[in-house]
Amino acid sequence: MSAALPRHVAIIMDGNGRWAERRGLARHAGHKEGIPAVRMCVEECVRRGIKALTLFAFSSENWRRPPAEVSNLMTLFVDALEREVADLHRNGVRMRIIGDRHALSVRLQARVAEAERHTAGNTQLDLQIAMSYGGRWDIVQAARRLAATVGAGALRAADIDEARFGAELALSGVPDPDLFIRTGGERRISNFLLWNLAYTELWFTDTLWPDFDVAAFEAALAHFAGRDRRYGLTAAQQGEAESA
Ligand code: IPE
Ligand code: IPE
Ligand code: MG
Repeated sequence: MSAALPRHVAIIMDGNGRWAERRGLARHAGHKEGIPAVRMCVEECVRRGIKALTLFAFSSENWRRPPAEVSNLMTLFVDALEREVADLHRNGVRMRIIGDRHALSVRLQARVAEAERHTAGNTQLDLQIAMSYGGRWDIVQAARRLAATVGAGALRAADIDEARFGAELALSGVPDPDLFIRTGGERRISNFLLWNLAYTELWFTDTLWPDFDVAAFEAALAHFAGRDRRYGLTAAQQGEAESA
């Protein structure tokens, strides 16, 4: 039997700027150099039968970076979407953006909408790209929508439970990530999927994102396969549940 495979992998792709700076290049060169690693992850997920992949590309807080870096990144997203969408489609990937999409440029919003429409019928891999995304933003927008529904008389506050709340979040319909990967050496969540990471296995590596290769991805999967996920139960209870 093959070792346990995550259904959903979530990745903070960090370290592009340092990758470039170490080579005496502009930070932007590092962002660009990160694209092959994105392609590799998508292909590995498709090849291995991992059903969902969520990538953190740009956080709510990243808007506060120097305007030139923000604008370079936005141009890179527009170009990458345009270039990659045919391959994604060929690989059976359904691509969606999660985040505050209205904060994106009109041009990028149009590209995103087109890529989402083009790949909507695919079923091999659900790919979520988090852009202008923050875990707190996600929770607040869910709360606001629920409050509006309650205000309109369509829902009782007492009927809001975890499932109902989760259904308003950006990852609604996608199982919670089983494996979280962060490259670039920092050991923090940086306002990524705060709600959905509740029981996710966390794996950190010092490898900078442009250097993240198949071997590094395999190391993360091997770490995951060795975990004992107890969800609050004792190890004995968990053993019983698995053999039942
Ligand atoms: C991650 O790389 C990409 C984005 C946040 C857009 P960074 O740009 O944060 O790279 P470092 O952490 O400065 O090396
Ligand atoms: C997290 O990386 C966001 C993305 C990779 C898109 P950051 O580089 O922005 O995180 P901090 O600032 O080190 O926490
Ligand atoms: Mg960083």
